[in-house]
Amino acid sequence: MTQTVLANADLDAALAEARQAYVARNPRSLARFVEATTAMPGGNTRTVLHYDPFPLAMARGEGCRLWDLDGAEYVDFLGEYTAGLYGHSNPVIRAAIDRALDQGISFGASNATEARFAAVVCARFGLDRVRFTNSGTEANLMALATACAVTGRRGVLVFRGGYHGGVFTFAGGGSPINAPFDFVVAPYNDIEGTLALVDRHGASLAAIILEPMQGSGGCLPADPAFLAALRDAASRIGALLILDEVMTSRLAPGGLASVHGIKPDLTTLGKYIGGGMSFGAFGGRAELMDRFDPRRPDAFPHAGTFNNNVLTMSAGLVGLTSIYTADAAAELNARGEALRQRLNALCQAASAPVQFTGIGSMLAVHTQRGPVRTPADAARDDAKLKELFFFDLLAQGLWLARRGMMALSLPIGQPECDRLAAAVEEFLSARRSLLAGQG
Ligand SMILES: Cc1ncc(COP(=O)(O)O)c(C=O)c1O
Repeated sequence: MTQTVLANADLDAALAEARQAYVARNPRSLARFVEATTAMPGGNTRTVLHYDPFPLAMARGEGCRLWDLDGAEYVDFLGEYTAGLYGHSNPVIRAAIDRALDQGISFGASNATEARFAAVVCARFGLDRVRFTNSGTEANLMALATACAVTGRRGVLVFRGGYHGGVFTFAGGGSPINAPFDFVVAPYNDIEGTLALVDRHGASLAAIILEPMQGSGGCLPADPAFLAALRDAASRIGALLILDEVMTSRLAPGGLASVHGIKPDLTTLGKYIGGGMSFGAFGGRAELMDRFDPRRPDAFPHAGTFNNNVLTMSAGLVGLTSIYTADAAAELNARGEALRQRLNALCQAASAPVQFTGIGSMLAVHTQRGPVRTPADAARDDAKLKELFFFDLLAQGLWLARRGMMALSLPIGQPECDRLAAAVEEFLSARRSLLAGQG
């Protein structure tokens, strides 16, 4: 008991020191933040980017490197929360955007690129038809609205810890500004608990929606049996199974559904698929998606000024066809898999309460010893240790999400992976006495 109290006091002191050093290193980011608070609430227009005492602001990126406002260089292990898969200023993407700009943007008309891009997206992710949106949030909104319209029901089974966009947040206590569907919140990776809720609410459920690996929730892969049970349950009750692959589609050439052999009714996509431009998409079974065919007298409407914007269409098309090919996807994910195993081996060798979960090119740190399979497990992470990990890695020139998530981009190679492994080793060694008292 006394030992734990002492260790906690030491952890508080280490954290205070790490924060102080961060403040001292980043006067320009602090000044930007203070100025930003006058026009934006909390100086912020994207909640995930805020952390105390103030968020770092970046000035420039190139390849897998970023430079902050104070001139410090970082290896970008965040990869824009999976959207930055191509790295900064990939020359092939850049050339595609330049070519598009040369032809002019915003035609207020169909263009030559959108159907080619749609065909590539359909072939790649096993969809009969697809429609584009501007964000993953919007894609999920459309998919859920479609499910409600075709089933005549209002209920949506979601999962604790899930994240489907700014108005679909199910971590912690959820969000007061979630979109007004009748949500039933089920326990992720818990077949029995989930099926009990399906039995109780089945008749009113329009959809079951989930991430095949919770991304924001801490890179928690769904058990294959859990996914299979949900596929069965959705079919049994006449609800749509919607797989949110906004993040996970990068984890295998055909997305994570293809790895599990699961056929959802609808899939939602986003992030890197737009080549770094704003992007979202929803697609799947023809008889559902064809409800949007505007030639039908009873067609569902789906407009969106920028749905087919030529910058996204052009960057996305060249990205999937000539950069993130099936081979490139397999290679990037193998690199990530090897990296995660290497980091976990370091943690085990140090007997530290630190571990990395994930699949392939996505990983997240957890600061505890126990198994981390569910959001309830993840909630047991030591928050202070995780914060210290973040500030220590930043001090070593590595950029990652404040919550500990990382996503490899294509320009990240062996030297960068070696640097991350060395930084984690340094953390485990420099903080050895603190780590021994925790977890
Ligand atoms: C699984 C998942 N779905 C949907 C979204 C929302 O996408 P967007 O930020 O493009 O609205 C995200 C964003 O992080 C996500 O991780």
